Amino acid sequence: MKIKKAIIPAAGLGTRFLPFTKSSPKEMLPIVDKPTIQYIVEEIVASGIEEILIITGRNKESIANFFDHNPELEYRLAETDKKEELTMIEAINNMAKVYTVRQKEALGLGHAVLCGREFVGEEPFAVVLGDDVVYNPQDPALAQLIKVYEETGTSVVGVQPVPKSEVDKYGIVAGQQLSETIMDVVDMVEKPRIEEAPSNFAILGRYILTPAIFDILEKTENGAGGEIQLTDGLKTLLSHEKVMAYAFQGRRYDVGDKQGYLEATVEFALRNPELKEEFGKYLKELATGF
Ligand code: G1P
Repeated sequence: MKIKKAIIPAAGLGTRFLPFTKSSPKEMLPIVDKPTIQYIVEEIVASGIEEILIITGRNKESIANFFDHNPELEYRLAETDKKEELTMIEAINNMAKVYTVRQKEALGLGHAVLCGREFVGEEPFAVVLGDDVVYNPQDPALAQLIKVYEETGTSVVGVQPVPKSEVDKYGIVAGQQLSETIMDVVDMVEKPRIEEAPSNFAILGRYILTPAIFDILEKTENGAGGEIQLTDGLKTLLSHEKVMAYAFQGRRYDVGDKQGYLEATVEFALRNPELKEEFGKYLKELATGF
């Protein structure tokens, strides 16, 4: 079955970016000139999906506004003959069918995904997390996972190896390697202690899930951090269905973390034709002075 829908959970409190997140969603933090969530939506659209549900929470109205029309701005841009800007704004409005729903309590990622049950119905679907921005213009990370789903018909989680010292930040998978990039998952654990991690393959914010996950999430109890965890739901799914892990290609940035966010900002600036020369020169000068 074709993957037609994607969920972006964006209800988290963003405590790692306080005070910014006191009144603004972290998904609206700009990487150069685009909010983080635009990179995520662009990857989803480039992967062939046009219906997107964003799970939001309190103080997240600016996300819905961003994907909606702004008649006053559009009128002003048209009046002042700012054609390029107007085209850019209209392209965002028309990029995809973007819907939002509010998660009324921050009960965890598993619960946020469950909020998309009615939107998804009985189809396999994608989940893309906003903290993981992946740069791969030739072959978007989500498109890579969709290809694996089309071959296997199973749920697929996108993974990459992370340093052993960081496994306690992620959902970690272990299993049997079927090829260089595909693993038949036999175990997964959310934020394991370093000495207990079954591998260093971390789930990095890209999932294709079968709808069987919803019944499971309804019954999943609080796990790591006292929250309903998607990883725990997936572990239960393993006893009913196969789940594959796919080592996707692409430069991934942990933009939920200050260091990762700054790396993304610098590297996207260096890829920007308008900025790369001047900014690159500035960085070189700065580096020699430190
Ligand atoms: C979430 C997931 C975790 C995954 C991570 C990727 O954790 O629960 O399994 O590895 O995203 O970024 P969070 O970063 O929300 O704590």
